[in-house]
Amino acid sequence: MNPGSKCRVCRQPAIIDLPRHNANFCAEHFVELCKRQVAKAIDHWHLLTREDRILVAVSGGKDSLAVWDLLAELGYAADGLYVGLGIGDYSDVSAEYARGFARARGLHLVEVNLRGEYGYDIPTAARATRRVPCSACGLSKRHLFDKAALDGGYTALVTGHNLDDEAAVLLGNTLRWEIDYLARQLPLLPARDGFPKKVKPLVRLTERETAAWCVVRGIDYLVDECPMAVGNKHLQYKATLNQMETESPGSKASFYLNFVERMAPMLAGRLADDRGALGSCAECGAPTSGDVCAFCRLVATASAHERVPVELLTKGKR
Ligand code: AMP
Ligand code: FES
Ligand code: ZN
Ligand code: ZN
Repeated sequence: MNPGSKCRVCRQPAIIDLPRHNANFCAEHFVELCKRQVAKAIDHWHLLTREDRILVAVSGGKDSLAVWDLLAELGYAADGLYVGLGIGDYSDVSAEYARGFARARGLHLVEVNLRGEYGYDIPTAARATRRVPCSACGLSKRHLFDKAALDGGYTALVTGHNLDDEAAVLLGNTLRWEIDYLARQLPLLPARDGFPKKVKPLVRLTERETAAWCVVRGIDYLVDECPMAVGNKHLQYKATLNQMETESPGSKASFYLNFVERMAPMLAGRLADDRGALGSCAECGAPTSGDVCAFCRLVATASAHERVPVELLTKGKR
């Protein structure tokens, strides 16, 4: 940002430049812009109603704490959900940030611990399944988010996915033409039997903006990325998109938002097909197309496996 840059709204000294808006903002008007972007997403896609009982999945990182804070600012009361994944120090520290935020605001945080409640952790699951850690991690989180929301009587499960996350997933799914995944890549997935409504209110904000939101609002968050994700494809796609964004500001938002507006409606039939009748898991009762759901199969495989320290899987990755 050029020294002496002024806020677009009030002409006071700016604290952040946002090339895709072709403007700079002071702290007060940056906060207003973020609130406006989130309110716009909620209104435009009908993400939340005032009657919803909201559960925010919080990892202790900037995005999920920002979305919890932003929802409160917009008048939506919400509880938090933290899942302890057992990824060494990373998980211990991330739990402290999630708890610290909840404590400071007097908010309720639901906690689920993989090792304590299901007898495994992500490093062990990755080794047991011989797949990348993010695969067992994603499966575990999806299942536990749904379960916690339904058990707790919540009607909406909110995550902190931001524009960078969604654009990177979109790029990956497009490069492989993963039509069924593309059909589901929406800021709102309505509730259906055994699944709560899933909502991503931050898709109009970049991760630079959610980080700036936390700094301006005095929110302490875990800056480190998950050590098991270092070098994965998702981060490569983010870097590629950032390069394009530097050359041509606004391209990331237009890639994702135009997908949702123009392309996703054409895939609606695929989403409907995917929503055919499902049976119930013989172990846990969750919806599944087989006898036992993928999560219960993972629990069986991983909990029978000898514990693997996180260092064994992350060594040499950095
Ligand atoms: P990630 O899958 O790590 O990109 O995270 C995407 C979103 O999932 C975050 O913004 C959070 O809303 C949620 N999330 C990730 N990790 C956790 C966790 N350990 N506990 C609860 N929510 C999480
Ligand atoms: Fe899931 Fe890192 S947070 S593998
Ligand atoms: Zn201003
Ligand atoms: Zn199951």
